[in-house]
Amino acid sequence: MKEFSVKPNIKMIDTVEEFCSIYDIGKRDLVFVSNSTYHKFFEGKTGEAIVINYRKYGDGEPTDLMVEGIYEDVKNVHYDRVFAIGGGTILDVAKLFALKEVSPVVDLYDRKIPAVKEKKLILIPTTCGTGSEVTNISILELTTKNTKMGLAVDQLYADDAVLVPELVRELPFQFFATSSIDALIHSIESFTSPKASSLTKMFSLKAMKMILETYQIIVKDGKEARKPFIKEVLMASTYAGIAFGNAGCAAVHAMSYPLGAKYHVPHGEANYEIFTGVYKTYQEINPNGSIVILNEYLAEILGCKPTRVYDEIEKLLNHIIPKKPLREYGVTKDDLKHFTEVVITEQSRLMANNYVELKRDVVYDIYQKLL
Ligand SMILES: [Fe+2]
Repeated sequence: MKEFSVKPNIKMIDTVEEFCSIYDIGKRDLVFVSNSTYHKFFEGKTGEAIVINYRKYGDGEPTDLMVEGIYEDVKNVHYDRVFAIGGGTILDVAKLFALKEVSPVVDLYDRKIPAVKEKKLILIPTTCGTGSEVTNISILELTTKNTKMGLAVDQLYADDAVLVPELVRELPFQFFATSSIDALIHSIESFTSPKASSLTKMFSLKAMKMILETYQIIVKDGKEARKPFIKEVLMASTYAGIAFGNAGCAAVHAMSYPLGAKYHVPHGEANYEIFTGVYKTYQEINPNGSIVILNEYLAEILGCKPTRVYDEIEKLLNHIIPKKPLREYGVTKDDLKHFTEVVITEQSRLMANNYVELKRDVVYDIYQKLL
């Protein structure tokens, strides 16, 4: 059975001003937002809402410790709506606070406490990558397990996903790069997932084309040339979110998580490190499945032969984020054994969506080639 659904209402609102007047943020609202976004766009517009500056609780990508820190500060606050304005990390953390019980968060991820949705959840992305606003997934680094884990339950769906292009237009290039590459990989991994359907594939293909064509414009006309296309990339990221929210991500994400957790490599960059290694391996193991259509489609966009797509896509993406050997992040040979073990034992949710089965020795091999 293939199922397809888009749970949140998706709204496009051009400006922050308009967004604030429609939602009338105030008393009994909890607003997750970074200090910089708050001061730039929301100061004086959130009334008596409790504003959570996520960065106060830690640097980098979200961990169980950050969630516990926020929980300590809000456990006695009464609120009815949760607003999250930010990148995937802020959205992922905020999703948890729409639940009745959040702490201990490790127990939530281990399914020892049930996920019961209690508050309204409104998600507003400020990067063009994670697609988190339309998925039911929250990814956290669980410090005790030393990897990232995903909790995917329908209670984490937002009520509203609101796209506000004004918030994304001035996104610095580095964040544009890592977040849009993440979206590109969502679209590709969901396309080759066994759970993909003709509906999810339609969203995947459209997202790939929009993102890759924007990259081609950047290569031709420079980084600033991305700005008129930001709204399209934001849309593409939501398309990719719809695709992977239904069909799932797979080995690229699973294998990037230990790298992100141990060496704090930004999520999109860690994905790019792993991406072509996995797809070249898929191609070797089974060159005759849905990867044929993917390769032909990418070849047409890239203007190359289908047999060359992974080299050509790497050439293009290297203009966006230069790819490095894993050892340049500090990864050692010993890490690879541990990473492989974590992928096989902890990431079965994602590894079930692989285009072909990747056994332990193959996962290790991919890492080794990238070292
Ligand atoms: Fe991702």
